[in-house]
Amino acid sequence: MTYIFAHRGSSKDCPENTMAAFKKAYQDGADGIELDVQLSKDGIPVIIHDEKLDRTTNKKGNVFSYAYNELTKADAGSWFSKTFAGEPVPSLQELLEWIAPLPMLLNIELKNNIIEYDGLEEKVLQLLRHYGMEERTVISSFNHYSLVKIRKMNSYIETAPLYSSGLFEPWEYVKAVCSQSAHPHYKSLHPYIMEGFKQNNIPVRPYTVNSPKWMSYFFEWGTQAIITDYPIHAKEVYSGK
Ligand code: G3P
Ligand code: CA
Repeated sequence: MTYIFAHRGSSKDCPENTMAAFKKAYQDGADGIELDVQLSKDGIPVIIHDEKLDRTTNKKGNVFSYAYNELTKADAGSWFSKTFAGEPVPSLQELLEWIAPLPMLLNIELKNNIIEYDGLEEKVLQLLRHYGMEERTVISSFNHYSLVKIRKMNSYIETAPLYSSGLFEPWEYVKAVCSQSAHPHYKSLHPYIMEGFKQNNIPVRPYTVNSPKWMSYFFEWGTQAIITDYPIHAKEVYSGK
């Protein structure tokens, strides 16, 4: 079985990283959701991809310059379509409250590779514990120091390094950063790399897989999941429609 994770929610049909996109992913039958977390000025984990608000909201400047109550007033939907006008930037807590009762997996990407957020790891772990989500969440990041830090704070939550290309024996690298799985850019995977991961019992979840051709490859090669903007299409490819 290959799981299908909705990248920033069903982000081709709804504005990325909003509750609308996450709810659509659930309706689309995605097995899991991928999202990006940063901290507001007052230290609240919020869900947004870019370090700046400019591309996906009606505000400008760094996420960390805004307090949480200011971020909740940002419009994160209008840039995508006026149907979604007023869609707010969600907090991680809001997402967890919604997802906890549902049979869904979660991939939290800590967006801390460009800006380091003091206390981000602790806050995310605390929230996951509070909502009983530790066993169905994988935490990923391009900041691999952050993954090692998480392992020191929590001995069992699954972590996965994100990387885009060129690692030699990446299954060894996964172990070196105290992780259990790998989230590579989809073009950096090849059958011989998959074989190395399999021999080392390391689940692989490539991102961001949007073409039916690549989806088919990964279903055939047996990646544990794919991360896609198009969960509906991925499900169709998976079921051979
Ligand atoms: O987690 C996979 C993928 O989301 C990493 O890249 O830039 O879309 O966050 P990005
Ligand atoms: Ca991401």
